[in-house]
Amino acid sequence: MNKDVERILVSEEEIDGIVRRIAAEIDRDYSGEGKKLVLLCILKGSVVFMGELMKRVTVPVEIDFMKVSSYGSGTNTTGRINIILDILRGDLSTCDILIVEDIIDSGKTLSYLVDYLKLKGAKSVKTCTLLDKPSRRQVDFEADYVGRVIPDEFVVGYGLDYDEKYRALPYVGVLKPEVYSN
Ligand code: IMP
Ligand code: MG
Repeated sequence: MNKDVERILVSEEEIDGIVRRIAAEIDRDYSGEGKKLVLLCILKGSVVFMGELMKRVTVPVEIDFMKVSSYGSGTNTTGRINIILDILRGDLSTCDILIVEDIIDSGKTLSYLVDYLKLKGAKSVKTCTLLDKPSRRQVDFEADYVGRVIPDEFVVGYGLDYDEKYRALPYVGVLKPEVYSN
């Protein structure tokens, strides 16, 4: 285990089960005629989850990317969402967008993005998150697909970072508080 990780919260095996379960739910919900499912990866934190999820989904998918920032360098959200990389496609009105996110905390990022994509004219917009911290919500928001609810602890790994580090860990772990408190 990484020396800065206090304990593993979601193991590789558990994540694999979550990914397969959500992929099956997506297959069930998006198998209808006339659907154009676009998995929209929110960079950078969702990149590992996205890669695993797209392999397990069996309905046809296209992929796309957006990059937004809400966090500074610490463990608290600024609450202001900046679009750093926008979705660049001219066929949004025919796309069933499924936003793929690593974690929901305040809820501000996803509630903003859902409104933004609807305003841009997407045919449908749903959301999927690996992790959910409902006790931290500042706006009312629920994802359509949730991997696992977790307590209010700062986690890293499987794409999630602290100060750009720890993204490559294959599990989700709780960071030792002394790593971000000094
Ligand atoms: P929200 O807008 O407050 O819901 O923030 C969601 C974003 O905050 C996620 O996409 C993450 O980038 C980041 N975030 C929230 N909690 C954590 C955490 O425990 N570890 C790492 N990043 C987090
Ligand atoms: Mg993120």
